[in-house]
Amino acid sequence: TGWIAGWLSFCLSVRLLASYVSVTFLFVSFMPVNLSSHKLPSRMNGDFTNMAVHIDHKVEASFNMVNEKEKDKNLIGTKMATKVSQQVSSRSKLEALFSHPLYNLPRPHLLEDDWLLKLKPKQSDSEEDAYDRANWTRSAETHPAWLRYHLGISRWELYDRKDPSVAEVTQQMATQRILSAVQKSGGTQLKLIMSFPNYGQALLKPMRQERDAETDFNLFYFSDFERHNAEIAAFHLDRVLGFCRIPPVVGRLINVTTEIRAITTDHKLSRTFFTSPVGNLCFHGQCEYYCSTENPVCGRPQVLEVSLASMLPDLSLAPRRSWRSPWRRSYSRTKLAPWEKNPDYCDTVKQTPPYSQGTRLVDLIDMVILDFLMSNMDRHHYETFEKFGNDTFLLHLDNGRAFGRHSVDEPSILVPLRQCCRIRRSTLMRLRLLSLPGFRLSDVMRESLSQDPLESVAPLLSVQHLAVLDRRLKTILQAVHTCLEHHDDVIHDDLQGYDVNLYRH
Ligand SMILES: *[C@@H]1O[C@H](CO)[C@@H](O)[C@H](O)[C@H]1NC(C)=O
Ligand SMILES: *[C@@H]1O[C@H](CO)[C@@H](O)[C@H](O)[C@H]1NC(C)=O
Ligand SMILES: *[C@@H]1O[C@H](CO)[C@@H](O)[C@H](O)[C@H]1NC(C)=O
Repeated sequence: TGWIAGWLSFCLSVRLLASYVSVTFLFVSFMPVNLSSHKLPSRMNGDFTNMAVHIDHKVEASFNMVNEKEKDKNLIGTKMATKVSQQVSSRSKLEALFSHPLYNLPRPHLLEDDWLLKLKPKQSDSEEDAYDRANWTRSAETHPAWLRYHLGISRWELYDRKDPSVAEVTQQMATQRILSAVQKSGGTQLKLIMSFPNYGQALLKPMRQERDAETDFNLFYFSDFERHNAEIAAFHLDRVLGFCRIPPVVGRLINVTTEIRAITTDHKLSRTFFTSPVGNLCFHGQCEYYCSTENPVCGRPQVLEVSLASMLPDLSLAPRRSWRSPWRRSYSRTKLAPWEKNPDYCDTVKQTPPYSQGTRLVDLIDMVILDFLMSNMDRHHYETFEKFGNDTFLLHLDNGRAFGRHSVDEPSILVPLRQCCRIRRSTLMRLRLLSLPGFRLSDVMRESLSQDPLESVAPLLSVQHLAVLDRRLKTILQAVHTCLEHHDDVIHDDLQGYDVNLYRH
């Protein structure tokens, strides 16, 4: 909810930095592809590089500190670690998964229009003197990682799993100095936009409840708190499923005093800080739900766990379209949604554009599978990049209400799969792979999540939440099996023309 409104208001509210960022951006979009005679405006390039060099030193310094501390910990932990590593097979399941042919399908041939952003040739030569001698290409080392990640967005995926700039973006969000923190207005719950010295930005969601607190059964799902660990785990799950449709998210411990209160220029936010009776520094911001003294976000006493999600390209450069899900829930306490009344509901959807053509329907089913696994009931809308029209992947944004319950599954989330009985072959084959003991969804998820910095504080998903992943995967495969028994057009064959034997397991 509120992504678009948020983006717009963010553009208005983060005056100075935002203008800088979008200028940089627009600017980049007019840069020549590998033309050494065209130069960047030197003032801007100068600022940019100096800043970047400046933080690089800081980041490096803070890394060294971390490494020193890690050494001590490692010494203490060596005995235990040896024990554990003897139990784990020599090869990591996650590595084995990602080197399986199903995770290395040939990428579709991409034409120029299949990239979201591109470096446009400069239009006139008159400004030549103002440009610096740099070759700004798609993979140029001169770009900050977030920009390389943006330039890698294509029609069929948000990022390439093997693109090193994605790992770099995540690492930078987790370690770079935070320059500014302002509220993202427009959303229902409190979120902050954090800015970094290399002009990168991230969307912050704070920890608001214990990780294992299950959603109150008497709450409507849309009243649930958003969870920082759900945002992080959703990114990992989406990647493990082979989708790559969630912007990179990472966890971080921040100092509420120095990294929010002291640097914020947002007066509405700074007015809401207070010290709790036990001496913790708290704030609540201003928003529709839970922004009150009764629902504060609190450090312990100043340290706060948060999730940081990388931003998508500014809407002025890459507008997005929001689509209402055909299986959206009824927000009324008494009325049923159309899909709840009509078991043949999907027959109508299948005949309605854009679901009647291309891959939209199976893309939606992919999203349903992701949501069922993490029990996300909050997917009333989804977004696509406008530039790609109807033939493009779906962004899986805003996953803060996932992973709320492990004691029950939510069958209604899987209704689109049961009603439509359509699934991509590659998705089905990856799900089957993940159900095998040699890979096992819960195991690869645990391993994937272990890469996040917050894992050192506490596991991002509890044992119960991990275990339900395997149970829910079984349910999905059973649903597909039932479909296969009753229909003959279940499989959308996206592996046509490939040697399918290569992908069997
Ligand atoms: C830019 O690219 C051109 C052609 O590939 C090359 O000759 C030139 O040395 C490059 N300039 C810089 C600054 O790397
Ligand atoms: C957070 O910042 C304050 C103010 O600089 C400092 O006194 C405190 O020690 C910091 N807390 C941690 C855990 O680093
Ligand atoms: C895309 O889908 C919409 C339906 O929402 C339809 O009106 C439009 O014609 C479609 N565009 C193309 C190019 O098929």
